[in-house]
Amino acid sequence: MTTTRVLANPADLARAAAEVMLARIGETLARRGQAVVVLAGGSTPRPCYRELSALAATRGARLGGVTWLFGDERWVPVGHPDSNEGMARRELLSPLAVIEGRIVSWEAGCGTPVDRARAYAERLGELGKPDLVLLGIGADGHTASLFPGSTAHLPDGRQLPVSPEIPARAAAIVRGDHPGWRLTLCPVYLTASRSVVFLAAGEPKRAAVARALAGDPQTPAAWIRGEETLYLVDRDAVPDIGGSLQYA
Ligand code: 6PG
Repeated sequence: MTTTRVLANPADLARAAAEVMLARIGETLARRGQAVVVLAGGSTPRPCYRELSALAATRGARLGGVTWLFGDERWVPVGHPDSNEGMARRELLSPLAVIEGRIVSWEAGCGTPVDRARAYAERLGELGKPDLVLLGIGADGHTASLFPGSTAHLPDGRQLPVSPEIPARAAAIVRGDHPGWRLTLCPVYLTASRSVVFLAAGEPKRAAVARALAGDPQTPAAWIRGEETLYLVDRDAVPDIGGSLQYA
């Protein structure tokens, strides 16, 4: 089931996302004592992570059973300002005092991108399905690093166009029009999640959100549905689709 909630502004969006994440993580920990959580990169999640670390502290939430993954990564070391892992560590994982054994790093920048994708895919196999996946969406409809028209370099050496059917849990990505590698989780892994939460703020995302909600096959974000899929959008990013929108 897919639900869209519209928040008044990015600050309300961040607070709502933090509440949803803490609720889903708490439910999972109560049910099985462990939780696998995939964090989104980019800029939209940053205030959400800040809110989540503050909320967890205020609520005395015990999150030691969570293993934290990253939906995608740029080909830079964790100390680089563009690192998604670096941002999540600063805003969330360090404030939560998460131990290193509970953080699954892509180790971007080490070895080759395909080696890193292979290592990550193997680790995912050990961890099993994700319980919560947080994703952003680009104006072009990409999510994680599943960019329209890009090429996926798979752990087994194959190179395939990015599609919903990429036969791998993780891949290295090359975009034709853009230098540099990306690392990404693939639809087969992301769609296995109990809960998928998309975050989108700002008018530039509106058309992509509309295409994703409409199931446009050319929009990678449309490929990712969990058992539950929730779009948290602010008023500027809300598509004109009428009907099934919940205004917070
Ligand atoms: C990344 C992200 C990417 C991001 C979207 C939206 O590495 O950049 O994983 O998929 O979620 O590009 O980015 P913003 O939140 O910065 O708009």
